[in-house]
Amino acid sequence: MIKKCLFPAAGYGTRFLPATKAMPKEMLPVVNKPLIQYGVEEALEAGLKEIAIVTGRNKRAIEDHFDISYEMEQQILGTDKEEYLKGVRSLIDSCTFSYTRQIQMKGLGHAILTGRTLIGDEAFAVVLADDLCINPEGDGVLQQMIKLYKQFRCSIVAIQEVPKEDTAKYGVIAGEMIREDIYRVHSMVEKPKPEDAPSNLAIIGRYILTPDIFDLIAQTEPGKGGEIQITDALMKQAQDGCVLAYKFKGQRFDCGSVEGYIDATNFCYENLYKEGQ
Ligand code: G1P
Repeated sequence: MIKKCLFPAAGYGTRFLPATKAMPKEMLPVVNKPLIQYGVEEALEAGLKEIAIVTGRNKRAIEDHFDISYEMEQQILGTDKEEYLKGVRSLIDSCTFSYTRQIQMKGLGHAILTGRTLIGDEAFAVVLADDLCINPEGDGVLQQMIKLYKQFRCSIVAIQEVPKEDTAKYGVIAGEMIREDIYRVHSMVEKPKPEDAPSNLAIIGRYILTPDIFDLIAQTEPGKGGEIQITDALMKQAQDGCVLAYKFKGQRFDCGSVEGYIDATNFCYENLYKEGQ
């Protein structure tokens, strides 16, 4: 079964400058918790305990976050502040964390290929931490996808309907509906203009990938924006075999944009943080 979850986390986060000048964008807090911690919690909930993170320059804070902060922890030991670290401590106790660096920023496909050394020859999940996904009603998005993988045993991308004018922000799929919430992918285009988009079904940052994807990425030429796109490698996989697109249950916030980040903050404050107090 799937045990590993890959987090491509080498990107610069330029849309959040100056906040991201010296701090990784994955460490931006939504209320009081860094974005990447939400992602790791979602992975653990889905039973994925081997966390693989593709980092880059200036990302050391991510490694420090998933480690003991010895001096601080000694300081708050036995006080009511200990409570604040409980969540991250239980992730550190339950998961292993391994890291590799992407030296050049050559796109999401390239970042995933860089993670090959941490994944090896097995199916794995991918989480883009700046897509914050929350399903207060039930299973998290990765858990929903893992359940589907058990049934179909092929690569799966999470999708949601977006306004047609927004297609240029996403990978967009088209396919044959095989269940009300599942499509078998026939075509897939990275960031098409609305007039070129095959549908309004946009890929969001949750993937389950079978390991043959690595060779397919390695054979993929730079595409949109001159970058090696995972969407293009998945399109080849869809042509040769099967890729599913899954309309997940829950909310997704684009925390790579200021507006989405503010929406996520308000939502988490009202629905998660206040409830936990
Ligand atoms: C990436 C993918 C794109 C996907 C998006 C989801 O784009 O390339 O296919 O729709 O994530 O957030 P990015 O937002 O990193 O430019």
